[in-house]
Amino acid sequence: MSNIHPPPIRVAFLGAGRIGMMHLANLRSIADVQVVVVADASLVAAQSGATLVAAARATVDPLSAINDPDVDVVLIATPTGTHRDLIAAAILAGKPVWCEKPVALTLADAEYLRDLAAEHQIPVMIGYMRRFDARYAEVKRRIDAGELGAIERFRGVSIDASPPNLSFIKTSGGICIDMLIHDFDLALYLVGEVESVHTWGAVLVDPGFHTAGDVDTVMVMLKFSNGALGVIEGGRRTAWGYDIRTEVSGSLARAFVAAPGAMPSDGDGAPAAVPTDSFANRFGQAYITELIYFFDCLRSHTTPKPDIADAMASLRIALAATESLREGRAVRIEND
Ligand SMILES: NC(=O)c1ccc[n+]([C@@H]2O[C@H](COP(=O)([O-])OP(=O)(O)OC[C@H]3O[C@@H](n4cnc5c(N)ncnc54)[C@H](O)[C@@H]3O)[C@@H](O)[C@H]2O)c1
Repeated sequence: MSNIHPPPIRVAFLGAGRIGMMHLANLRSIADVQVVVVADASLVAAQSGATLVAAARATVDPLSAINDPDVDVVLIATPTGTHRDLIAAAILAGKPVWCEKPVALTLADAEYLRDLAAEHQIPVMIGYMRRFDARYAEVKRRIDAGELGAIERFRGVSIDASPPNLSFIKTSGGICIDMLIHDFDLALYLVGEVESVHTWGAVLVDPGFHTAGDVDTVMVMLKFSNGALGVIEGGRRTAWGYDIRTEVSGSLARAFVAAPGAMPSDGDGAPAAVPTDSFANRFGQAYITELIYFFDCLRSHTTPKPDIADAMASLRIALAATESLREGRAVRIEND
């Protein structure tokens, strides 16, 4: 048996913040990948990230990291408003990209990136890790195998255990774009195209959300193009842990996924365990699986998904849900 490993894929990692540090810690366990540079607007954060993965250097200049000749691939976990320029710079440098969701804050920016990636033939994957969670993958398998029959209803719940910093909220695009976009992605992935949305929102957790131009509690109703209906409930605080649930019901059966402790034990038969407190705990393995998949795609020259077009579909729903929230009416989605 050969002991020869492929040369490591050399990574520039941008954004060593709340989720970036988690990804960096995960990258240590992924074979044949070496983070060579960590960039963060804060030198202290960049240095912490670089130390964690024993990267050769830390910098406050993301462009120098992207254009570093020792870098093959760019991973991005900076605030959403920076994604457009950083993804574009990586594409123009000819380097494949994995970037945290959402791809951008506007459809115009996302379209620009989709076209730029297509023109330069650079793979760009967007981080919707729930698709890589084993239990969601099983729901997808059951739906595709027809075990649920014709899909009639989709129900999602996404509620943080405790709110992120209000400074993060101000740049996040709002709860529909920042948080419910995961549920919109699942709705598309599991059920299909969404035709219209109607949103109700309220500030019930912290008046600071109002000051930041956002709400902390939200309900979005969905009408799918195939006739199914859906509802997604979102929030920024629970007294019982990180509450992520999804239920898809069809003519033959339903599929249900819940975070441990989010529900009494009648959900999917699993006993209620200690509540999960955060995305990092609930989806710990999914974040690793999605990055392993991304690097495997690069090695095998297959196109990683979800790509920018997939991310645009969930962004379209999130933007329509935000418009509905603002205007108090149902909003139709302009699908391609
Ligand atoms: N998939 C998920 O479950 C999930 C969870 C949390 C956050 N996110 C996404 O990850 C991204 C980051 O979120 P976060 O909570 O880690 O934010 P954060 O504010 O904690 O971290 C962002 C880091 O990026 C740095 N930064 C800012 N501008 C920069 C620039 N131009 N170049 C380099 N570094 C820069 C900041 O100094 C900070 O350290 C957001 O897009 C968010 O939507 C995804």
